[in-house]
Amino acid sequence: MGSEHRYGAVISETAHFLPERIVTNAEIEQHVDTSDEWIRERTGIVERRFLADDEPTSHMAVEVARSLVDKSGVDPLSIDLVIVATVTPDMFFPATACIVQGAIGARNAWAYDLSAACSGFVFALVTASQFIQNGAHRRVMVIGADKMSSILDMQDRNTCVLFGDGAGGVLLERSEDPSLGLVDFEHFSDGSNVDCLNVRGGGSAHPATHETVDKRLHYVRQDGRAVFKFAVVKMAEISATVLERNGLTGQDLALFVPHQANRRIIDAAADRMNLPADRVMVNIDHFANTTAGTIPIALSQACAEDRLKKGDFLLMTGVGAGLTWGSALFRWGV
Ligand code: UT7
Repeated sequence: MGSEHRYGAVISETAHFLPERIVTNAEIEQHVDTSDEWIRERTGIVERRFLADDEPTSHMAVEVARSLVDKSGVDPLSIDLVIVATVTPDMFFPATACIVQGAIGARNAWAYDLSAACSGFVFALVTASQFIQNGAHRRVMVIGADKMSSILDMQDRNTCVLFGDGAGGVLLERSEDPSLGLVDFEHFSDGSNVDCLNVRGGGSAHPATHETVDKRLHYVRQDGRAVFKFAVVKMAEISATVLERNGLTGQDLALFVPHQANRRIIDAAADRMNLPADRVMVNIDHFANTTAGTIPIALSQACAEDRLKKGDFLLMTGVGAGLTWGSALFRWGV
C-alpha cells in the first residue's frame, strides 16, 4: 500500500499527560462490592488516575499540546490542523480541539473533535494522515484525551473499576519519503451494536432532565461480556490482517501499541501475532482504560524509553464503542 501517496505522514513528536491523583483498587472497593484481586485478575488493572473535579478534558489535552510544542520547538502558527479524539469533550460544542488550538495560539489551524471512543486516536491519526499524504497539510496535531471519571457511575461495579483519565498526542508531519509514516490501516464500525457500550443521557435522544439524572443515564453503561468477546476477536483479527497484507509477521514488528481495555484482550492479540512480550506496550496496570488516551499515552512512554528507531514497524490497534475498531501500521522515522 505504502507508496501510492505523495508524501509520508510521519510521527515527529509524542507527549502525554496523566493526572497526579492515583486511585487504587482499594479505594474503588470503598464504592462498590469488588476486590483488588478480582480487578487485577480479570482486567490487569492495579490503579488508575483521576483528574480533579474542576478540571475538564481540555486541561489534559492542552498540557499535551503545550508539551508537543515545547519538545519539538515548532511554531504553533505552522500547525495546519488540530484533531482531538474524545468522548468526554468539555462541552457539546464548541469542540475541545478549538479550546486546544486557542490555548497554544495555533491561529492558522482549523480544529475539530472526532468521536470514535476507544478507536478514536487511531481513527484521528489515520484521518490526519490523509491530509498530509495528499499534500494538503504539512503539520497536524492529533490528541486523544478522556476524562472518564466525569461519566463513571461509582455505584456500578461493572464499569467503575475499568476506567481512568489521561491524554496523549503526536505531531504528524510531512516527509518527502512516502515509504515512511503511515503504511496501511484497517478500520471498521458495526452500528448494529450501539447498545452494548454507551452513555444514553444528555444527547438529543434523551436530553438532560431530572428523570434522566434519576435513571443514571449520564453514565457509561456496558455489556462487558459482549464487548469482551468482540474485542478479543477483532483486535487480533485486524492487527493480523494489516500485517499479513503488508507481507509482515509479528517478528517484523518493533512495537505493538494496543488499546488498554483488558490485559486478556491484549495478550490474545499478541499471541495471535506471535509477538514476544517485550514488543507489546502494556500500561493498563497503572492507568486503566483512558479511552482515546490509551494508545498515545503508551506510544509517548515508548518514545521516552527510546524504543523506536528509523525504519521500525509500529502497529497501533484500538477497539471500542460504536462498535468501532481500527489498526494502523507505521514505519518509524522522519
Ligand atoms: O474500551 C472499550 C472496550 N471495552 C472493553 O474492551 C471491555 C471488555 N470487557 C471486559 O474487559 C470484561 O468483560 C470485564 C472486565 C468488564 C468483565 O470481565 P468478565 O470476565 O467478562 O466478567 P463477567 O462480566 O463475565 O462477570 C463475571 C462475574 C459476574 O458474576 P456472576 O454473574 O458470575 O456471579 C459479575 O457479576 O464477575 C462479576 N463482576 C464483578 N465482581 C467483582 C463484574 N464486575 C465485577 C467487579 N468486581 N468489579
